[in-house]
Amino acid sequence: MSANAVFMAPGEGETVFSVSSSPIKFGAGALRELGADAQALGMKRVALFVDPHVLASAPGETALASLRAAGLEVAVHAESRCEPDSDSFEAAAAFARDGAFDGFVSLGGGSVMDTAKAANLLSTWPDELIAYVNAPIGRAKPIPGKLKPHIACPTTCGTGSETTGITIMDLKSVGLKTGIASPLLKPSLAIVDPIATETLPAGVVAASGFDVLSHAVESFTARPFTSRPKPAHPSQRPPYQGSTPYNDIGSLAAIRLGGKYLARAVRDAGDREARHQLMFASTLAGLAFGSAGVHIPHAMSYSVATLRHEYTASGYEERDPMVPHGIAVVINAPAAFRFTASANPARHLEAAAALGANVAGAKPEDAGEILAQAFIALMRETGLPSGIAALGYRESDVPALAEGAYAQQRPLIMAPRAVSKQDLEGLYRAAMKYW
Ligand SMILES: NC(=O)c1ccc[n+]([C@@H]2O[C@H](COP(=O)([O-])OP(=O)(O)OC[C@H]3O[C@@H](n4cnc5c(N)ncnc54)[C@H](O)[C@@H]3O)[C@@H](O)[C@H]2O)c1
Ligand SMILES: [Fe+2]
Repeated sequence: MSANAVFMAPGEGETVFSVSSSPIKFGAGALRELGADAQALGMKRVALFVDPHVLASAPGETALASLRAAGLEVAVHAESRCEPDSDSFEAAAAFARDGAFDGFVSLGGGSVMDTAKAANLLSTWPDELIAYVNAPIGRAKPIPGKLKPHIACPTTCGTGSETTGITIMDLKSVGLKTGIASPLLKPSLAIVDPIATETLPAGVVAASGFDVLSHAVESFTARPFTSRPKPAHPSQRPPYQGSTPYNDIGSLAAIRLGGKYLARAVRDAGDREARHQLMFASTLAGLAFGSAGVHIPHAMSYSVATLRHEYTASGYEERDPMVPHGIAVVINAPAAFRFTASANPARHLEAAAALGANVAGAKPEDAGEILAQAFIALMRETGLPSGIAALGYRESDVPALAEGAYAQQRPLIMAPRAVSKQDLEGLYRAAMKYW
């Protein structure tokens, strides 16, 4: 195994990492146990967050039937917006405040799970949304205490939001995608039933599957936890620790599963093995990045997703033009990994090999290109756009794109090498067109 599994000598830097695991129930049929699990968490009056597609799908029926069979009172909020914004978060919060619920259930992709997290926060500890949003964009007010129980049930093979302490929205007042981060936002339980992926359109599998691969490769190549100074007090240890030997296990397994199953899961909706395995990869990668952190591709994704709205992805035709999160992220990945490889070529080669690339005889200086090409091959195979130019971006957009990415210091400081605004401009230019 490459460098990060080697511990630094005591005294030089951080020597300790922590593992805070989230309760997870995984497997085909797990959703049928939702009602019993909600009861066990003390819920009686439940707010169920879904979106219209999910409500009309088989998993929607299973979830409602299970909650009702357990004798729970259920109110449905079916207006969760795909790629939520501050308005849809506020509307969900108003629904939660009016309903005086004692528990939350979210059934959907990252958009729905994030909406439920925000509604839980804003109804339990009322304040303006901007108060809790990450600095420097928001005021990063600490969440005052525990939230109500929340069971998150993902239906995309995707974001990993079911175990993370993050919620992401397009903040309309500043025109930027940003988020709220706190361990208190982590759902009380994740119920991951891979059957839910069987109704996903191919384009949503591609977008959310590349989010998984990006989470896994970014957390695997994030700066090692040993590169931080030792904190003066354990409470000062940051929630994103950098890559650790523990997170590496999940990241590498998720990269292998993504490399093996992503194209199959996109190509054939009937390939249950591929879709179910991709869902497992999503959970593993979510756990890894929720603890290690992500870096440059995610930092760059937020301005790609918000500055231009000209692109309609396959599977998202009913939405106004927009760039789905997984595409906004992976479109930066080849350029970003070419840039970061020199910080740790062995790790980049290990990630490329796990993705299925032939790394026999590769030299350290080839690592970035080999990993970039592995991503590009998979992007082409699954019908992704060829770069940010295909999303409508031009050279004249580069300064604004870089400005927006540079504001995302929380992920940027997890990169294995320092990145300046000029570097980001270069990365966006390199991401214009890969083929
Ligand atoms: N909180 C986190 O940790 C975290 C991490 C990564 C991304 N995100 C956020 O998550 C959002 C993206 O989430 P996503 O990629 O999961 O997609 P999504 O929730 O936006 O859903 C995409 C589309 O798929 C449809 N869909 C979902 N499940 C379905 C099913 N089983 N059958 C049929 N259709 C279904 C939805 O209706 C929607 O149209 C973005 O806002 C992103 O910023 C959050
Ligand atoms: Fe992501």
